Amino acid sequence: MFRNFFTNCLLVIFSLQCATTSASDPDPVQDYCIPNPRFGSIRSISHLLILPCKNSTEATDDDFIFSGMKQAGNFSDTGLASIPVNPTVFPGLNTLGMSFVRADLKVGGINPPHFHPRATEIAYVVQGSVYSGFVDSTNRVFAAIIEQGEVMVYPRGLVHFQMNVGKKPATIFGSFNSQSPGLQKIPSAVFGSGINEELLEKAFGLSSKQIGKMRRRFDPERSN
Ligand SMILES: *[C@@H]1O[C@H](CO)[C@@H](O)[C@H](O)[C@H]1NC(C)=O
Ligand SMILES: *[C@@H]1O[C@H](CO)[C@@H](O)[C@H](O)[C@H]1NC(C)=O
Repeated sequence: MFRNFFTNCLLVIFSLQCATTSASDPDPVQDYCIPNPRFGSIRSISHLLILPCKNSTEATDDDFIFSGMKQAGNFSDTGLASIPVNPTVFPGLNTLGMSFVRADLKVGGINPPHFHPRATEIAYVVQGSVYSGFVDSTNRVFAAIIEQGEVMVYPRGLVHFQMNVGKKPATIFGSFNSQSPGLQKIPSAVFGSGINEELLEKAFGLSSKQIGKMRRRFDPERSN
């Protein structure tokens, strides 16, 4: 028991150090690592990048199956419903260096410009017709309308976006080469994060009234 605890702790420390220095998730050192509820609920320890494992003899079939994305999630104001699937909701993914998302777009709905600091994303159009693209670090845009069955790749850390330009709802399956890709939405990062207002006015050439409007719109309490 004690030995197990100690090994797990060492693993956590080791993983955390790797995560700060390596360019991708650390390689697993065992077949799989189902998070151990003995260390607290998965949500409460999810700040640990790699969660401590339970004894592999206690793993179950259900640990490796996720059934929570048969239907679209809840839609935001922009017509986007996304269900991010990572080890906090799908224990079997822990330490495997990957995660995924189901995203649904209403007709005309958008996924606003955002990026994932720790992962490249592959986006597969399950149904619909989606204007999809990203911007590279020279501000060049790569974008096109992709249809059912087509795939686009968004390189790690680059701003990307999607809009349903078809006449029917669209569904996208995105997969990431990190179990913790991170997500920063540009509008909320800029206007919803509490950056000094004078700085924002100068940066964007907007009046204090206009900044106030953007702030209300992208208040983190409201955005999702
Ligand atoms: C895992 O569980 C099995 C069966 O209960 C036990 O024999 C084994 O010692 C445990 N392994 C560790 C590292 O605790
Ligand atoms: C959608 O919202 C309901 C009510 O707030 C919530 O119970 C449910 O878990 C949400 N679904 C998803 C996929 O987030």
